[in-house]
Amino acid sequence: MKEKIRLGVVGCGSFVQNFIPLFKLHPYVQWVAVTDLIKDRQHDTAKKHELTREYDCFEDMLKDDKINAIAIFTQRQLHGPLAIAALKAGKNVYSAVPMGIKVEEIAEIVELVKKTHLTYSMGETGYYRPCSIFCREKMRSNEMGDFVYGEAQYHHDMRHFYQSFKRSEGEDWKKVAGMPPMYYPTHSTAMILSSVESYAVRVTGFGYRDHHEDECFGTGKNYWDNPFSNMTMVLQLANGGTARLNENRRIGWYGPQSYISSLYGTKASYEYSVGQHSYVTLPDQKAVYHNVNDLLNPKVLEEARGQESFMNDIVNLKWNTEAPIQNLDRIPGSLAPVHNGHDGTHKFMVDDFCKAAYTGKLSPTNAWVAARFNIPGLMSFDSALKDGETLKVVDLGDAPKDWEIIDPYKD
Ligand SMILES: NC(=O)c1ccc[n+]([C@@H]2O[C@H](COP(=O)([O-])OP(=O)(O)OC[C@H]3O[C@@H](n4cnc5c(N)ncnc54)[C@H](O)[C@@H]3O)[C@@H](O)[C@H]2O)c1
Repeated sequence: MKEKIRLGVVGCGSFVQNFIPLFKLHPYVQWVAVTDLIKDRQHDTAKKHELTREYDCFEDMLKDDKINAIAIFTQRQLHGPLAIAALKAGKNVYSAVPMGIKVEEIAEIVELVKKTHLTYSMGETGYYRPCSIFCREKMRSNEMGDFVYGEAQYHHDMRHFYQSFKRSEGEDWKKVAGMPPMYYPTHSTAMILSSVESYAVRVTGFGYRDHHEDECFGTGKNYWDNPFSNMTMVLQLANGGTARLNENRRIGWYGPQSYISSLYGTKASYEYSVGQHSYVTLPDQKAVYHNVNDLLNPKVLEEARGQESFMNDIVNLKWNTEAPIQNLDRIPGSLAPVHNGHDGTHKFMVDDFCKAAYTGKLSPTNAWVAARFNIPGLMSFDSALKDGETLKVVDLGDAPKDWEIIDPYKD
């Protein structure tokens, strides 16, 4: 495009408040505009971030030629149709996760991107978490050998969501709160799949049938008749390895929320538990332990190690910021003053989208990659409803070979 981004942000809830300052300060962005169905939110957001442009509705943004990109920050079940409409209107798209909640929506996004050559970038924190970067680097260099088995999860108990559902959904909030956890699978899938740069070919899903008194889950309780508050899926990957992924929404756990608990290769392995990252190589008969905490944990966390409250602070997510392994040199300096949330990942997601839309290259979390992060989760719900029947995963293929992808280490 080589044209600065004039961005229409759809949805002025809580998450986007971290992103508007980043978009505003990015050198490839000319200006940012907002819209929300809830007008007070829209006006408050515009005022808070000193934005001069507000739109009555999403459709007005699409009609306006001045806007050349849309950022979707609406509730999680609404993204697919908005992304499709934006691409059809000729706009580049940044979307919060998930990509969509139907395989057909996702397939249509991929087709539209192929046809239009517009940017689609899904802002998935899991791609840039320190554990994913570490495992990806070790897998790419072949230090870990072939991928054998990995486990990752996103734990987020329902009690942390009640208020935000009530604020955005009103009286019907439970209908949405009960969405199948694997309709939002990308925090767990992205960490393993991006680490080993492969994709799922077969999926088996299982669910925990919820019986909590909040009654968000069960037949007739939500828009999907979903009985499960916690879901597990086992994936067979194209590279021959196996992954176990969990999306849990009723669980006695707070933090860390998204992490790879283990990733085993034929030559080396990585494990994590509550602040402790372990990397073990097996050069010969004897294993070698490498403590990689200094590389994968934020500096402030390591400085606090040994304090009485240290472990308690970790499980309460006290140090949710950047770690030395994250290559902040590639991030424009103008973004430096803004907090880099979700373990230092926000700036990378914004930068990928802006660079992709400006240069015409593909984002690392482009439509094809995002499809592979999302579709296995959607299908695992079908599998779980069929008592864990193994299903062949719908695969939409690789991005076109002649479409250059931004290198997350250099560009
Ligand atoms: N780690 C992560 O990647 C992460 C973390 C938090 C949230 N998220 C995602 O970010 C998105 C936003 O989350 P949130 O907590 O801010 O949600 P929210 O409910 O606080 O805000 C969503 C807003 O979108 C508005 N909206 C819905 N449809 C609209 C439309 N057609 N036009 C204009 N406005 C519309 C709603 O009125 C609401 O104000 C969600 O999809 C969520 O999954 C991702």
